[in-house]
Amino acid sequence: MKKILITGGAGFIGSHVVRRFVNSYPNYEIVNLDKLTYAGNLANLTDIEHKPNYKFVKEDITDADAINQLFRNENFDAVIHLAAESHVDRSITDPTAFVMTNVIGTVNLLNAAREYWKGSYDQKRFYHVSTDEVYGALGEEGMFTETTAYDPHSPYSASKASSDHFVRAYHDTYGMDCVISNCSNNYGSHHFPEKLIPLAINNIKNNKPVPVYGKGENVRDWLWVEDHARAIDVIFHHAKTGDTYNIGGHNEWKNIDLINLLCNIMDQKLGREAGESAKLITYVTDRAGHDLRYAIDSTKLQKELDWVPSLQFEEGLAKTVDWYLQNEEWLNNVTSGNYQSYYEQQYSNK
Ligand code: NAD
Ligand code: TYD
Repeated sequence: MKKILITGGAGFIGSHVVRRFVNSYPNYEIVNLDKLTYAGNLANLTDIEHKPNYKFVKEDITDADAINQLFRNENFDAVIHLAAESHVDRSITDPTAFVMTNVIGTVNLLNAAREYWKGSYDQKRFYHVSTDEVYGALGEEGMFTETTAYDPHSPYSASKASSDHFVRAYHDTYGMDCVISNCSNNYGSHHFPEKLIPLAINNIKNNKPVPVYGKGENVRDWLWVEDHARAIDVIFHHAKTGDTYNIGGHNEWKNIDLINLLCNIMDQKLGREAGESAKLITYVTDRAGHDLRYAIDSTKLQKELDWVPSLQFEEGLAKTVDWYLQNEEWLNNVTSGNYQSYYEQQYSNK
């Protein structure tokens, strides 16, 4: 029996991690803590919300008192920390929100664990889920490894880099059992349509322009979200204390090539003439400080913990498109209300 606090479990990746742990480990008690920001959605978890080993707590990780009280009341064995502000464009508009949640929120969780796990650090694990964006940008060549120096460029990646440093500092200073993983761009179901792939699917479906930043030449390494959740499971259970793993898809795509592939898939799924959706592609002003290329070397994870991605990108992308087309209500719900004003503000001047 283990009681695990998963933070950010109502978000995109968090909901896949919660689902995996609730279903795979009926003898674990999973407590999902989430503030339910615009990105958090309990509709992501309707299939498991009534399971006896699952509980939801609405809380804000920037509220240190509330976090301490939760740790006092619940005897957690481990934390898997995913709660974060996660969108680069929003971090350019409002960096402070990223400092508050990603840095202060992480330190609040570390402080609570440090206090309430005293005397049993060897039996408790703090697993911090991070991003490859902390390593900065690559040129045409090379890949990020676990020893690549941190060089973040956006307020988002700077805040995640800072949180990673705090997690390592608590391991080195207090001897807490901390583990970190840094993953490349995820894609799949339940992804909030402010990020490239779900935004493009939604716009193509609605015959709206598909905004491509700059020349569309930036490269990202895409990983199926369920493969990320499986990697988190393996690392959580088998990593050595203080260890770090990179997680990636070995799947690099230029944005414009990815969007063209997506347009082809959407033409087929929607019964449109070939080339119809690609007419929606619209080049817009580039993102400030836009990192050119990310690519992850996940050899360590493959060799030590026997993890490899399971899906080819074309197959995963087609499955993702199917999910969005079959879950129109989910998409309509998350794109009503605040989404409209965000979209207006983000794309009107481009
Ligand atoms: P997301 O934005 O979809 O979800 C974040 C969740 O955190 C939401 O449910 C939100 O309500 C919650 N949250 C935000 N602020 C909070 C607060 N103050 N207190 C409590 N809950 C709060 O993000 P995601 O894409 O699922 O990313 C999850 C984690 O994985 C993040 O830490 C992110 O940095 C990391 N990551 C994401 C990617 C990616 O491609 N999306 C890749 C690598 C790493
Ligand atoms: P995004 O999904 O925001 O992830 P990240 O910035 O964390 O990598 O963006 C992926 C890539 O797509 C990135 O190079 C920026 C680009 N992009 C566009 O070209 N148009 C868009 O509307 C968005 C949201 C992103």
